[in-house]
Amino acid sequence: MLRPRRSVLYVPGDNERALEKTQALPADAIIIDLEDSVAPSNKEQARVQATEAIRRGGFGSREIILRVNPIETPWGMADLHAALAAEPHAILVPKVSQSGDITGTAKVVKASGAPSHIRLWAMIETPMGIINAREIAACGPDPDNRLSCFVLGTNDLLKESRARASNNRFAVVPWLAMTLVAARAYGLDVIDGVYNDFKDDAGFRAECEHGRTLGMDGKTLIHPSQVDPCNEVFSPTEDEVSWAHKIIHAFEQPENARKGVLTVEGRMVERLHLVMAQRVAAIAKAINARSKTEEPWF
Ligand code: COA
Ligand code: MG
Repeated sequence: MLRPRRSVLYVPGDNERALEKTQALPADAIIIDLEDSVAPSNKEQARVQATEAIRRGGFGSREIILRVNPIETPWGMADLHAALAAEPHAILVPKVSQSGDITGTAKVVKASGAPSHIRLWAMIETPMGIINAREIAACGPDPDNRLSCFVLGTNDLLKESRARASNNRFAVVPWLAMTLVAARAYGLDVIDGVYNDFKDDAGFRAECEHGRTLGMDGKTLIHPSQVDPCNEVFSPTEDEVSWAHKIIHAFEQPENARKGVLTVEGRMVERLHLVMAQRVAAIAKAINARSKTEEPWF
């Protein structure tokens, strides 16, 4: 079944209270962070708290991702080994700038004998990561690399580029779009960056819509108040689901079995639209199933 990744909430690994709160929030996925949101003095404590929380469980059907520190930092390798022992659904590798950052991490994962269901996610957040997005995404098809998802780190990109986020992310859009097509070329999911001003509801919703329009699967979040509006924007609307079912129904008719193009309610519909409709229907079904269960998804 398709995995909805509409709302992906960060929580600092050393914030025990917030960690506990995530278990009652309707986010599709939780990224427990050991990197940017944890001060150097708290890194060891955060690692222990985060991995204990993952082992204890209680996150229901939410996907749990642990963001480790870069491997070359004093904490990176210990984070990775602790993550593998705790068995989150995925490990998020920060500041991925070349394919070797993924293949190198995947080798450590393989050598540890970690279960095959643990995936790697990659943060695309450096200028070199954008330039190399294609070669990084090309790690996807090799199952040994376990790569399944890109996460945009727009705060780091703004810092590195000296650009501004204003004017509908004018400066950021080329990076988002390049990362998105690279990911899609190799079958990966892509999650948009965060919106820092968590009290600005209208601005946040507009940025969700912006990401959805660009083709993002979901958005990374920093605050509980962002979860519901994000889920709403990244779910197919009732109209979209009903239109998808009309297209599927039309192509199911025996008289249309050998046709490549049809007219449905006065609009041209080709078989590529059928593929799109099947995806919308599958995502809607997965969202519906997800909202009805608190069972872990594996
Ligand atoms: N996940 C779960 N719960 C969270 C949360 C999060 N990311 N952020 C805040 N909360 C909880 C708080 O614990 C608080 O709970 P309480 O009222 O029961 O005590 C409640 O939501 C309201 O929080 P609020 O007072 O509005 O915010 P804050 O000042 O405590 O925290 C931030 C604001 C931005 C520091 C905090 O939201 C945060 O740390 N976000 C994640 C940052 C991060 O991980 N960044 C890395 C990637 S960019
Ligand atoms: Mg970052």
